[in-house]
Amino acid sequence: MLLGFVLAFFACVVSAQEYDALPYSVENGAVDESTYLGWRIFHSTCHGCHGVDATGTSVAPDLTERVKKLSSRDFSIKVLSRYRITMSAEAAAGDDQTEMRAAFLEQVLRRERGEVLMPAWDQDLNVRPHVLDIYAYLRARADGALGQGRPQRQSDND
Ligand code: HEC
Repeated sequence: MLLGFVLAFFACVVSAQEYDALPYSVENGAVDESTYLGWRIFHSTCHGCHGVDATGTSVAPDLTERVKKLSSRDFSIKVLSRYRITMSAEAAAGDDQTEMRAAFLEQVLRRERGEVLMPAWDQDLNVRPHVLDIYAYLRARADGALGQGRPQRQSDND
């Protein structure tokens, strides 16, 4: 019984990773609706700091590089949370809050140095429901599946 539960859990993890492996679809240069929406939102909200086509500016990093290393879950946490504190579930649940304090302190120091901080988007209704659409667009860019500029939509070719 317990074993069955454990196996079912791992099956879910595996399928989540498979989904993560390809959250977008690109056919003949044309993308699915989710990826297209991600492109649109990125270029209304994020490009000011991260640059057109997500390739970075002097104030914020190139996301086509960074997103290669982020799962959809880690991406969502970083984009939505106020202090971008990312840590393992064990560390977050544990009694030792050292990691949390260190991340918080770094934020304070950055602010005092006048550096641009990544905003938290959890209150932004343009972003919050579409964080995985933005991830799909950025993963397609990071994987080299999608080039620069406005993508074609698959539905336009129907
Ligand atoms: C006001 C400028 C600004 C805007 C607007 C902005 N960002 Fe950022 N973002 C930053 C900065 C600065 C960093 C680097 C923070 C750091 O490394 O500590 C960052 C970091 C990130 C990271 C983390 C990269 C990593 O490897 O840790 C992601 C993901 C990200 N931004 C996504 C987005 C998305 C998606 C949007 C639009 C919804 C957005 N950003 C809008 C400034 C901005």
